[in-house]
Amino acid sequence: MRVSVIGTGYLGAVHAVGMAELGHSVIGIDVDPTKVDTLATGRAPFFEPDLDDLLAKHGESGAVRFSDAFGDAAGADVHFLCVGTPQRRDGLAADLSYVDAAVDALAPHLDRPCLVVGKSTVPVGTARRLAAQLARTAPAGTAAELAWNPEFLREGHAIADTLTPDRLVFGVDSDHAESVLREVYASALDGGTPLVVTDLPTAELVKVSANAFLATKISFINAIAEICETTGADVVKVADAIGHDPRIGRSFLDAGLGFGGGCLPKDIRAFIARAGEIGAGQSLLFLHEVDAINLRRRERVAEIAAELAGGTLIGRKVAVLGAAFKPHSDDVRDSPALNVAGRLQLQGAHVAVYDPRATDNARRIFPTLEYAPSAYEACRGAHVVLHLTEWPEFGEIDPSELATVVDQRNVVDGRNCLDADAWRAAGWTYRSLGRP
Ligand code: UGA
Repeated sequence: MRVSVIGTGYLGAVHAVGMAELGHSVIGIDVDPTKVDTLATGRAPFFEPDLDDLLAKHGESGAVRFSDAFGDAAGADVHFLCVGTPQRRDGLAADLSYVDAAVDALAPHLDRPCLVVGKSTVPVGTARRLAAQLARTAPAGTAAELAWNPEFLREGHAIADTLTPDRLVFGVDSDHAESVLREVYASALDGGTPLVVTDLPTAELVKVSANAFLATKISFINAIAEICETTGADVVKVADAIGHDPRIGRSFLDAGLGFGGGCLPKDIRAFIARAGEIGAGQSLLFLHEVDAINLRRRERVAEIAAELAGGTLIGRKVAVLGAAFKPHSDDVRDSPALNVAGRLQLQGAHVAVYDPRATDNARRIFPTLEYAPSAYEACRGAHVVLHLTEWPEFGEIDPSELATVVDQRNVVDGRNCLDADAWRAAGWTYRSLGRP
């Protein structure tokens, strides 16, 4: 099929090559010509495992092309909307200006029957509004139909999540729209991927509900971590034990510095805002608490760092291992690690950050922090070492060797995954979140 992908950020670039890999002929459209040029050379403007290989492969064969002209999307049968919906600057709600602009720019080119498929995470009710807008403004009128097909990919696993999703959700208004989407995803469906076919508002809600649930699960275990901190209990053991219950499950119960990134934080806030708009604010009051628990973890790490530094951070050197919001990504949007680094610097510390992939992005938003070329360099002369993003290479650090470069052997394991016994045996004061 001929497919266009509008917006080639994290979601769109991966979706474009994913569609090419599934055998479709793809044009990716973005308003940023620099991004388009980079993608056209077979490289992604961000780090995502395996993405460059697929971009090069499908770029060379011509299966995927990129352009900054919306007119180039005109011949496609299916148009995927993959633009961002960040938090508004003036409140909790989602900023829909990119979605609106994409539909405004695309609609005049839709002069033949086609399906416009929203993938962006939007407040419930947006799809109905956009469907009406398309019917009004596209030359094809109601033959330019709208569907919603939410995306569940995780950064760092985005290619696998796109090619072999754990479920597909089609929000449709007609059998025709469902059959078009079945054709788009034929290989995944043939492979047994579960499918839920529903209406537009339900599809929108599936996405935000999934992210709200994941955020709640993380904040739940982080609240238990707070209790563990005052009782001497071990939150990792609690998570392991309750996670054996199949009704609970172990995943997304890793206590630590909490969630960040371009999705969970802004999605729970947009959900709260939308619930308020539709008169159901009370239903999601608990999400305020989910957000608050999450942000408290950042404060707690800063407190522990100050304690270990002898009560004050003024003039102390702190090494921060990790800047990305999670490993296998160079994304620093709402990164808990960088948030802590910035906080400690404001409290007078000299902060040196090392991240295997995210240094350039981190430097752009926090230019005043020092960025080291390796974990060892970041730790040279440090009074406290903070492990804040669980890149595998940090788990391989030999604590005895690292001890030779620091000023004092203090480590805070913000992700609860270093070997506490090994660090203590090497003479370190090891502190973590929710573990004795
Ligand atoms: C999240 C969802 O997991 C995806 O399903 C969804 O498609 C995506 O948002 C989106 O809306 O586009 P992502 O933001 O890539 O994906 O990251 P996650 O893997 O969900 O991690 C989010 C944050 O939670 C990270 O900062 C991670 O370190 C933290 N986390 C995760 C924990 O603190 N504990 C855990 O047990 C798991």
